Amino acid sequence: METLNTRAAAVASDILTSQESNQAVVLSGAVTASRSQRGWLFGIGTLGILLASVLISPWTATQEAPAPIDPTDYAARTKHVLSTTPLIDGHNDLPYLIRNELKHQIYNDKFTFNTGLLSNTDRQKVRDGMLGGQFWSCYIHCPKDSETKEDVPLDEPTWTLRDTLEQIDITKRFVNEFSDIFQFCSNSTCAREAFANGKVGSFIGIEGAHQIGNSLASLRQLYDLGARYITTTHNCDNVFGTAASTVTAGREDKGLTPFGEEYVAEMNRLGMMLDLSHVSHETMRDVLRLSEAPVIFSHTGAYALSKVLRFAPDDVLKATAEKGGIIMITFVNRFLRPDNPDAATIHDVVDHIWHVAQLVGWDYVGVGSDFDGTPVTPLGLEDVSKYPRLVELLMERGATDEQLRKFAGENILRVWAEVEKVAERIQAEGRKPNEAYWEGRTWVRSDMNAPIMFRDSLGKRVPSYLGNP
Ligand SMILES: *[C@@H]1O[C@H](CO)[C@@H](O)[C@H](O)[C@H]1NC(C)=O
Repeated sequence: METLNTRAAAVASDILTSQESNQAVVLSGAVTASRSQRGWLFGIGTLGILLASVLISPWTATQEAPAPIDPTDYAARTKHVLSTTPLIDGHNDLPYLIRNELKHQIYNDKFTFNTGLLSNTDRQKVRDGMLGGQFWSCYIHCPKDSETKEDVPLDEPTWTLRDTLEQIDITKRFVNEFSDIFQFCSNSTCAREAFANGKVGSFIGIEGAHQIGNSLASLRQLYDLGARYITTTHNCDNVFGTAASTVTAGREDKGLTPFGEEYVAEMNRLGMMLDLSHVSHETMRDVLRLSEAPVIFSHTGAYALSKVLRFAPDDVLKATAEKGGIIMITFVNRFLRPDNPDAATIHDVVDHIWHVAQLVGWDYVGVGSDFDGTPVTPLGLEDVSKYPRLVELLMERGATDEQLRKFAGENILRVWAEVEKVAERIQAEGRKPNEAYWEGRTWVRSDMNAPIMFRDSLGKRVPSYLGNP
């Protein structure tokens, strides 16, 4: 009631102002009018204001806001929500397809992004899907998936880091080449501005900490290149923690390693989002216990609904919400319906979103498709053009526009901004870049002929791996 009265008063004063200015025009056009004539004109003006105050309520309602949308017109409501709030997807693997099929060459006729691609993402699909922002996955596979049950080579970082740099390069070149619809961003403010500019904000995520060369220095450089989230593991253990696929293969869930704890601290200091998709349940819990900032699941689902170990169990969903984080739901058939992947539909995705929303609330759920990263997509969610249909189905099930704005983009933007704030605070406190290194590291060096800085280094020189300098 209070709000309504205030609003009516504001509307009345707007009318007053415009009536007064109209009257001023009339009066200036009648400079020769006598005092009594002016009084008469003023009287008409006042009467007009009174009449207007009586009549304005229905009139201004239609002037101020567009006609209210029929609540059951889900398509119209969705269009309104997604044209005023960016829908931001946590995970799309198009850069990896460009690598696989084009060896990163996009400046030729073969890359028909504008006229259409068989895969999930192209210009028309992006526009039809009302995509408002995208974390492009700069994915490079594990040296060996832990599903093979063999030891994964840990100290083999060179090519994964190089190839990750290539994925970052192609993502930026792709965004630049189609800069009429995309805009590269490395902070949450820019993500909002891109949407306001009518562009699809384009951000970088790295899908596995095996991609950072076992090195916190490399991590810092990847941040400087614009990467804003890293998935703690992909389908292999790395020097930081245990992958879900390792536990699926029957091995022990060791959670984070001691070096992984240093990694979490450095991610917080930098303002890089910690992504817990693909990690084991103990790794999820360890990161949630240690992280000073909210964490994300860039593409996951609810373990309560699908018993795949890379999905998040309810205690983890709750801990993620308590930390202010986000669970972005994926569209991968074999995870949504492990019993019968071919039967997966858009309704399974709705079920996972609904489960998270019911358990922890609409502030902590979002969308992370894995489009272009999975060979089969659910019926009804075939490609990027189908996001509106997903929002419509959530409305049909009872979600409000306000809840769906959070789901579409507000939640991930809030998390991102909070991660930025935590980093700002940590850096203001004076914490230095983390100099921890992985103890299993082979230090490739050549110092047979190098001078020494310290007396106790005498006799500790190592034989050259690469020949004399
Ligand atoms: C965010 O990114 C934009 C665009 O790159 C940049 O101009 C701006 O300075 C950045 N803001 C912060 C706070 O870093």
